[in-house]
Amino acid sequence: MAVNAAELLRTDELGKTERNDIWWTEPLLVVSTLVIFSMYVFWAVTQNANFEVGPYLSPFYSPDLRHTFPALFAQFPWLSPAYLVLWIPLAFRGTCYYARRAYYRSFFLTPPACSVGPSQTASELYEGETKFPFVLLHLHRYFFILAAILAIFHWKHFMDAFFFEQGMGVGVGTVVVGIDALFLTLYVFSCHSWRHLLAGKLNCFTCGAFEKMRHTGWKNQSLLNEKHAQYFWLSLATVWFADVYIRMVASGQWRDVIYIFGQGFTTL
Ligand code: FES
Repeated sequence: MAVNAAELLRTDELGKTERNDIWWTEPLLVVSTLVIFSMYVFWAVTQNANFEVGPYLSPFYSPDLRHTFPALFAQFPWLSPAYLVLWIPLAFRGTCYYARRAYYRSFFLTPPACSVGPSQTASELYEGETKFPFVLLHLHRYFFILAAILAIFHWKHFMDAFFFEQGMGVGVGTVVVGIDALFLTLYVFSCHSWRHLLAGKLNCFTCGAFEKMRHTGWKNQSLLNEKHAQYFWLSLATVWFADVYIRMVASGQWRDVIYIFGQGFTTL
């Protein structure tokens, strides 16, 4: 009797598989990276110090709400401004379609990889994204709008990063902040929710000028959307490094090299 490959690989025991490749490296990398990143973020936002230096602001503290609510921060000086904004990128990333795939596999083990036995407990508890808490994942489309606004602030910080006390110039930090803004933008605008806003619920792509325009937008966005997983990780790395860099310069551990236009090199 003929048995196909999928049947040979099917198993109900956690981690059991006929696969002989190193399938466990991806879930292991995802778990360790996200755990270390989360611990770092928690530490960085509770510091409430060394998050700005010269014209640079840590992306974890963006937008800087101290100027919007001065009375609040005067009354509660221990309050980290990051607490008021960081929930936006965390909620956006936590409800991201790619992130769901990553944590369903790596944290919930349902299953940990293709053709590898799943966690029976997690599989039995999971009832789809129809009940609390997983039903909250549908809020992603609204977090997309907030994340898009956040990306605009990151570009504003990039523009600010050219203006030093000594005059206009460009520093290593300017480049670091710019790379963070670029990859955040690529991550946000490769989102599936943006793809849906562009051409979702459209039955005809050629019925009118507006429909054609939406179709063109959808086709172009598809080029970004194909690489959404890569942008997820690249933007995580660049936002992480931007905070580390600014923190190290602010605390005096590293010197930022700046070129002031018309004057030459100096350091921050
Ligand atoms: S699907 Fe990943 S950010 Fe929207």
